[in-house]
Amino acid sequence: MKSIVCEQPYQFKMIEAEQPVPNSGEALIRVRRIGICGTDIHAYGGNQPFFSYPRILGHELSGHIESIPENASGLKVGDQVSIIPYMECGKCIACKSRKTNCCTSMKVLGVHIEGGMREWITVPYDHLVKTEGLTLDQSAMIEPLSIGAHAVRRAAIQEGEFALVIGAGPIGLGVMAFAKEQGAKVIAMDVNNERLAFASKWAKADYSLNVLDQPLEKLAELTNGEMPTVVFDATGNAKSMMEAFKYPAHGGRLIYVGLVKSEISFNDPDFHSKELTLMGSRNATREDFDYVVNTVKNGGVDLSLYISHRTHLDEMIQQFEGWLTPDAKVIKAIVEI
Ligand SMILES: NC(=O)c1ccc[n+]([C@@H]2O[C@H](COP(=O)([O-])OP(=O)(O)OC[C@H]3O[C@@H](n4cnc5c(N)ncnc54)[C@H](O)[C@@H]3O)[C@@H](O)[C@H]2O)c1
Ligand SMILES: [Zn+2]
Ligand SMILES: [Zn+2]
Repeated sequence: MKSIVCEQPYQFKMIEAEQPVPNSGEALIRVRRIGICGTDIHAYGGNQPFFSYPRILGHELSGHIESIPENASGLKVGDQVSIIPYMECGKCIACKSRKTNCCTSMKVLGVHIEGGMREWITVPYDHLVKTEGLTLDQSAMIEPLSIGAHAVRRAAIQEGEFALVIGAGPIGLGVMAFAKEQGAKVIAMDVNNERLAFASKWAKADYSLNVLDQPLEKLAELTNGEMPTVVFDATGNAKSMMEAFKYPAHGGRLIYVGLVKSEISFNDPDFHSKELTLMGSRNATREDFDYVVNTVKNGGVDLSLYISHRTHLDEMIQQFEGWLTPDAKVIKAIVEI
């Protein structure tokens, strides 16, 4: 089978590999779509800390079941599926409390173990989500959208409250779409006006603000001086994450969806006087995947514009570099096999 291996930073190689053989409890999947995300780009660029090469990248996957053991979930050969790429241990403190998304020894496909940039992959069949009624493209986007859905679920949004989402990249856009879905009045904030325009159009954000243009004053104006009761940061920018302490209302919540590998500090009065609730949001669970599948199925999220670039596995190596430049204006690139 064809497989693309990231041999070392800035070096992909197409190889002919053996088709994997499923172990007990595993299904064999014919991979049909691979979404490309920041994680893959960082791994390719050599700035994914603790990453070991060679590695087959790719964790935003959809395909068809080629073989599967007898199972109670009713999954069968030929079914179209999305893959939950987070392989949890099932035994640790987080897994025991059903927070498999933050397992202490998490292994993510395409990051810690071999991912899906290849024709076939084996995965535990309990990590498959049936996506009947969706397209293969939509099925591959369930994972990145579930990240946003999980963060929104953590926030427990109340109908009508103001939700500020900082960062209108593919992750922040998902947060916006699901916050809208939960009834929030969404304020999109970014440094990039094109991304803000896209957030208004695609995620139907109610308001948009450029962070360079007096955000505190503008937020106060939009919220009758009260400030947003929930704030998500999806920038991956430490400065933004620290500034974000200034934005929530008293009694509000701040959710870090974006992440950095550095220290974050904040002014205690910004935190304490407001009695802020600060939350991290990591990955997603099957509950989030199921919610996203249903929302997409019901037309709540339109993926036709979200997928901005596309190619075939045979052409991916040539196309990849081009997707990295800001001029390419990639929101989400997808690879067909
Ligand atoms: N929680 C999780 O499990 C999870 C999963 C995947 C990705 N992530 C993280 O989510 C973050 C966002 O991912 P993405 O793929 O959307 O990234 P991206 O880089 O495509 O988008 C980030 C957006 O933030 C904007 N931005 C950057 N600095 C800013 C600032 N100071 N103020 C306002 N806006 C700013 C950028 O213009 C861009 O539009 C990353 O940190 C990524 O690692 C988290
Ligand atoms: Zn991803
Ligand atoms: Zn675990």
